[in-house]
Amino acid sequence: MKPTALITGASGGIGYELAHLFAKAGYDLIVTARSEIKLQQLKTELNNYHVTVIAEDLSHPEGAHNLYEKVKKQGKTIEVLVNNAGFGLNGAFEDLPLIEQKKMLQVNIHALTELTHYFINDMKTSPFSTVPRGVLNVASIAAFQPGPRMAAYYASKAYVLSFTEALREELSGTGLTISTLCPGATDTNFFNNAKAEHTKLVTRTMSPKEVADQGFLGFIKGKRVIIPGWLNQSLALSSKFVPRATAAKLAHYMDT
Ligand SMILES: NC(=O)c1ccc[n+]([C@@H]2O[C@H](COP(=O)([O-])OP(=O)(O)OC[C@H]3O[C@@H](n4cnc5c(N)ncnc54)[C@H](OP(=O)(O)O)[C@@H]3O)[C@@H](O)[C@H]2O)c1
Repeated sequence: MKPTALITGASGGIGYELAHLFAKAGYDLIVTARSEIKLQQLKTELNNYHVTVIAEDLSHPEGAHNLYEKVKKQGKTIEVLVNNAGFGLNGAFEDLPLIEQKKMLQVNIHALTELTHYFINDMKTSPFSTVPRGVLNVASIAAFQPGPRMAAYYASKAYVLSFTEALREELSGTGLTISTLCPGATDTNFFNNAKAEHTKLVTRTMSPKEVADQGFLGFIKGKRVIIPGWLNQSLALSSKFVPRATAAKLAHYMDT
């Protein structure tokens, strides 16, 4: 028997790369996203490993609970939860359809929070006390500042960072690792899906493999906040010194 890692948003991008890394590190996988076809392709690629596919739409208010129920039906306990599923929306706040913004907050905030709540107790009582166990939540360097024209997205990632840092403190001494991965611009479908491919944000990107490698290693080492790449680390650091109003103006400029 092996420990199990549940990875959301594993059908592409950073989550897909993280799935490969956790499988190779000796975890059974449960992979989830909406696209069952892409998840089945991932399972085929990882045919030497134990991979369970569960297609679920986490923008649905019942999505996270449905996923939890399906995991329980498999008789699985979860040692690592990677809350990676997420998306952004680019545009003036008042023009972006409210229904789409609510779906985004459902995935980026509510599903992440619910899944963490459901699986924490499993992790605490897991028999795999010697392997890394815990939660890796994917935020963004957007978490460190306000982001005009992606206002709700940036705010959702600030929630993920703050929530995860607080949880880490609450759970210190339990043997669980609670980490936040804060990628900068990464070459995935994110910008196309967000309709942000025209912005200066995409001028310098990292590959999803590089981001996942650093995220995985940081989690295994028990790091609190993992920021891949020196440029992103500098941006996050500068948020400590640059007034937030100035940071908002700069982010607005980068969005053009
Ligand atoms: N790319 C960047 O520049 C960047 C920077 C900072 C942070 N991030 C964060 O990194 C995480 C991964 O994004 P990515 O860059 O790898 O983008 P991506 O390639 O678009 O991957 C997003 C993943 O989330 C899943 N997902 C989206 N909506 C979902 C829903 N309603 N229900 C269930 N799953 C859903 C997608 O699968 P389906 O479409 O199959 O459902 C996909 O597997 C996100 O949280 C994102 O905010 C990305």
